[in-house]
Amino acid sequence: MKTYLVTGGAGFIGSNFVHYILKKYSDVRIVNLDNLTYAGNLENLKQIENNPNYIFIQGDICDSELVGKVFKEYNIDYVVNFAAESHVDRSIVNPEIFAQTNVLGTVNLLNCAKNSWEVESGFKEGVKFLQVSTDEVYGSLGEAGYFVETTPIDSHSPYSASKAGSDLMVKAYFDTFKMPMNITRCSNNYGPYQFPEKLIPLLINNCLKHADLPVYGDGLNIRDWLYVVDHCKAIDMVLTKGTTGEVYNIGGHNEKANIEIVKGIISYLNENVDKEITKALIVYVEDRKGHDRRYAIDPSKIKDELGWYPETTFEVGIKNTIQWYLDNDKWMKNVTSGEYQKYYKKMYEGVKTL
Ligand code: NAD
Ligand code: TYD
Repeated sequence: MKTYLVTGGAGFIGSNFVHYILKKYSDVRIVNLDNLTYAGNLENLKQIENNPNYIFIQGDICDSELVGKVFKEYNIDYVVNFAAESHVDRSIVNPEIFAQTNVLGTVNLLNCAKNSWEVESGFKEGVKFLQVSTDEVYGSLGEAGYFVETTPIDSHSPYSASKAGSDLMVKAYFDTFKMPMNITRCSNNYGPYQFPEKLIPLLINNCLKHADLPVYGDGLNIRDWLYVVDHCKAIDMVLTKGTTGEVYNIGGHNEKANIEIVKGIISYLNENVDKEITKALIVYVEDRKGHDRRYAIDPSKIKDELGWYPETTFEVGIKNTIQWYLDNDKWMKNVTSGEYQKYYKKMYEGVKTL
């Protein structure tokens, strides 16, 4: 039985990953370590909170004493590090917390993993540290070309710079100590449980409220969208089958200009939900500082080596996603009103952490 330490498991991708793994395997244990920032939401995990194979610990990945205790108490085999400050706009306003959580937090996890896993001959059998990273570390593309694993790191935003810093620390633990690891670099994710500061859930929420849809700059920046469950499947494959020490890019060849996403969501909601939702809601606003123009992943390596492919087309994924937000309007209301934070305070009142 493998025990996973999933960090940031109450966030968007982390919670999807916890659901994915508990559905796929019956003989695993997941310890979710999350300090529940604004982006952490235990409502995302409501359906599995009583699963005997799932343990939640409220705590900070930067806390060396706590993380050390987690490794001792739970005999961790895999670390899947999702915990991060993840929003580019916030990183422009407040870069320090990005360096703190994303770089120093990752170093603390690496250190605790090394202390726990090192044996005389090297490292214990069957352990691995998987760093969940982003294509944004590669910087920005022109009209042609794709990011491959050997594309030089050229991050621009404080967010992507902090992710690049943490990737390099993970690589350093492999190069220096031979600590078993992989780094995955994924393109933009969409799907259920995404905090509505990111483009797609923000647009869905604003459309339904008949509020403005802010489009940065000319709306022609391109992102390469991947359905979150396909990302979770890729992480599972890299963790269990990936060659130690390797980086894997994850993306579904699904490039869209931002304005296409905006217009697509408007038309879907207009046709299926509310005839009053109109293009007039689009408002072109000042561009993001240092706004990367285009991201596009070449996923050949993970396809050829591990047989991964994205199962969900954008047409299906975006419909599922919109429908999920429509079916879960209470979730969205709780997030936008701040009510979700009361849910976990109530739930964990009196429950001691390690
Ligand atoms: P998110 O912001 O939704 O979730 C982050 C989670 O980390 C939250 O639950 C938060 O409470 C937790 N967290 C933050 N600081 C912490 C700390 N110090 N200690 C413990 N927990 C902490 O982020 P997401 O979109 O789910 O992204 C998860 C990971 O995937 C991040 O590392 C991100 O860089 C990476 N990634 C995201 C995307 C994307 O499109 N969202 C794409 C590629 C890679
Ligand atoms: P975002 O979801 O923040 O992801 P990232 O910056 O990590 O790619 O933004 C996706 C794209 O949408 C990006 O080009 C910025 C743009 N954008 C807008 O035009 N308006 C918005 O309100 C937001 C949040 C993003």
